[in-house]
Amino acid sequence: MAYKVITFFNKKGGTGKTSFSFSVAKDLNYPLLSNDDSVIEEIYPNKAKILDELETIDHDVVYDLGGFIDTDAIKIFKSSDIIIVPTTLDINSIKRTINSVMEINSFCNKIIIIINRVKKDKLNKYRQSIEALKGLGKPLLYIRESEAITNSIHLGKTITELYSKNNFTKNQYKGIYQDYQELLEAIKEG
Ligand SMILES: Nc1ncnc2c1ncn2[C@@H]1O[C@H](COP(=O)(O)OP(=O)(O)OP(=O)(O)O)[C@@H](O)[C@H]1O
Ligand SMILES: [Mg+2]
Repeated sequence: MAYKVITFFNKKGGTGKTSFSFSVAKDLNYPLLSNDDSVIEEIYPNKAKILDELETIDHDVVYDLGGFIDTDAIKIFKSSDIIIVPTTLDINSIKRTINSVMEINSFCNKIIIIINRVKKDKLNKYRQSIEALKGLGKPLLYIRESEAITNSIHLGKTITELYSKNNFTKNQYKGIYQDYQELLEAIKEG
């Protein structure tokens, strides 16, 4: 059974919250709610909504939560079965990601971190940042840099939909699809 209330959050912008929340919501056929402006209402019509004030909901939902923590955000965190915090590996993102995780830690007992936009040949350079993230004691997932992410939002197709189209796309998007499956598996463990 998948987690019912799935929240993507990071105080740092541009880390992949909207990209992954859209793909996960559409693949699970969940509604997607956000307090942050993006194209989700156009690419996921009737199911995605951008609202000034988000409310908690006691049924399946994915939240794409923009970067500040107020009382409404805290209510959403507390209602979440899982909070997914995507980050990139640049030093600024790492600092704000660690800060974000520490701030939300007491509100939800299942938090996972996505190290996003991974380039394998650069991992060594970011060893210290990765160690710092590991220090938070949360599960880490790695998702590689891939044009599938940009294409997904551009075309309104999930990573699964892009991958599954034909044999060519299955080959083209094999790596990112595998990474993304691990995220779906982690969500479905609930
Ligand atoms: N794994 C990836 N590979 C390539 N590009 C990526 C990847 N993840 C995210 N991006 C790109 O990074 C940019 C930011 O992603 P996204 O909009 O999902 O982040 P966000 O956290 O929602 O940002 P914001 O804080 O602005 O709402 C987008 O242009 C997206 O295409
Ligand atoms: Mg966004």
